[in-house]
Amino acid sequence: MFFSEQLISEIIEKNDIVDVISGYMSLKKNGTNYKCLCPFHSEKSPSFSVSSTKQIFNCFGCGVGGNVISFVQKMERLEFVEALKFLADRAHIEVSDTNNEQQLKKLSLYNTLYKINQETARFFYSNLNKSKEPMDYLKGRGLNEQTIKSFGLGYSLNAWSSLQNHLRQKGFSQDMMQKAGLIAKSEKSSGYYDKFRNRIMFPIIDLKGNVIAFGGRVMDDSKPKYLNSPETPIFHKGENIYGLNFVKKQQNIENIIIVEGYMDVIALHQYGITNAVASLGTAFTENQAKLLKRFSNEIIIAYDADVAGQSATLKGLAILEKEGCTVKVLTVPSGKDPDEFVRKEGMEAFKSRIKNSVSLIEYKIEDVKKGLDIENIQDRIKFTKEFSMILKDIESSVEVDAYIKKYSNIMRVNETALYSELNRLKEKHKNGNNKHNIVNSKKEEQKPKNAELIAEIYLLNICMYDLNKAKNIFNIINPESFRNRLNKEIAYIIAEKLKEEKSLNAGEVISKLDDAEKQTKAAKILSYELPEKELDGLIQSSIDIMNKSKEERKIEELTSSMNELFQTGEKDKANEIFNEIKKLQRIRK
Ligand code: UTP
Ligand code: MN
Repeated sequence: MFFSEQLISEIIEKNDIVDVISGYMSLKKNGTNYKCLCPFHSEKSPSFSVSSTKQIFNCFGCGVGGNVISFVQKMERLEFVEALKFLADRAHIEVSDTNNEQQLKKLSLYNTLYKINQETARFFYSNLNKSKEPMDYLKGRGLNEQTIKSFGLGYSLNAWSSLQNHLRQKGFSQDMMQKAGLIAKSEKSSGYYDKFRNRIMFPIIDLKGNVIAFGGRVMDDSKPKYLNSPETPIFHKGENIYGLNFVKKQQNIENIIIVEGYMDVIALHQYGITNAVASLGTAFTENQAKLLKRFSNEIIIAYDADVAGQSATLKGLAILEKEGCTVKVLTVPSGKDPDEFVRKEGMEAFKSRIKNSVSLIEYKIEDVKKGLDIENIQDRIKFTKEFSMILKDIESSVEVDAYIKKYSNIMRVNETALYSELNRLKEKHKNGNNKHNIVNSKKEEQKPKNAELIAEIYLLNICMYDLNKAKNIFNIINPESFRNRLNKEIAYIIAEKLKEEKSLNAGEVISKLDDAEKQTKAAKILSYELPEKELDGLIQSSIDIMNKSKEERKIEELTSSMNELFQTGEKDKANEIFNEIKKLQRIRK
């Protein structure tokens, strides 16, 4: 099997290390990194760290480390090439032997297209001074020469075949020019013409520094304002982010600001805000969200202050949140875009907008609040309803708590009333398949209540393995903590056996059960394969899961009795329970 360098980087690129490792272990966020117990050595507190920006892992305890490929090699015990195959399959990348020749052909096509675009960008840049107009335009928009140079801006001449002639001279074929989307076949004659004419040119550069496409802007009010490269073998709309190549070079960025247009990115960079990128007008995609998340978990959306911008903001937010990003919204005064704003008000004003950017939730709440009058009872009721609709999708109870506190004050609505409405909604949406809940319910499917059952089964199996560990387990928990009835019964049998100080044997344990069906089921349970993980860690995480589930059930019970009390008008008692719930939730954090 043949893996070219490009193919290997494609495999690494399409297998996000956080994604891959999350498939094996549950990662906890820790600053910009993720942490968990090291799967490769025994430890009690996590020293295994995964960096999303660097795409590597590292254990401070035992010293293992590497990239996504070395992780899979270790975890799945594979040779390098096998690990590559494994990851290629995971990302649905074809690598079969028969494709070898095709693969090489594809790579050579890509290389030619990169080269042709590079040459084109150079040509456009050199055109800037061939007439007065383009530089005047760029200067008129406030850009200095340094900025123009670092973004590689250029100009496509007002002619039908200047680029084509230039590229031919440089040895590129017409076929390649067409594949690169730079020329198109004329409908009238048999010839080809340059697609970009008399426009300011913005090269789009990928993370490896290749020019992959262009956007071209007219210098007046004619339409279309921007002309962009079509889809080509190296340019897929919705998979790139303009300006990310600059962000990549910076260390320790706190967040990324996403704006709509080329000019917004460029103006912000010139004003020292170098973490700005653009989604380029098209609908923001899941691929773009994944890409952004590699560089920062905190994304600030700063779209134009018009209706289109606002609706794009909400859509973008939803997609970014689904990828697990913390999303905030930065607003510029109505009618403006970040480019105009920063040029008019300056860097400090923009930075203070960054500081004052709000969470998605707050953005939505403020949106609801906008048209309402606090003095009006009907408006307050309306607020309570819509506010709860917004809050019901939040998972973190601490967060919910904070919003309820804040807005119960502002809107003068009782905290408990807000909680009650929220719980009523959650209850209602639990059964129905509600649109707003799709994101959450998916998450719940991935992490089924089964986690608790599986944890129980792991513990029971560990007992079969090692007498001392069995004793340790039953020192910490008692058989009553097992939730599943049969698991509990088995646990009681094991606990009994432990008193006899004899080593345990599954056959014996099973024989203590009183009916055949149970025995069959128990045999299944006790022959469950343990994950290849160090046992003490597995014991700890299983017990943690059991405890957590128990607390969750407790909270659920309390919540439903609180709702009942609230509905029957016993507000004092409801409030008491409410405080108890909050206390439990706080402990869990
Ligand atoms: P805008 O209309 O907000 O333009 O479109 P802009 O970026 O602010 O540009 P200026 O300030 O008028 O020069 C935002 C983005 O949408 C895409 C472009 O990527 C643009 O930067 N767009 C817009 C197009 O692709 N085609 C268009 O005709 C218009
Ligand atoms: Mn603009």
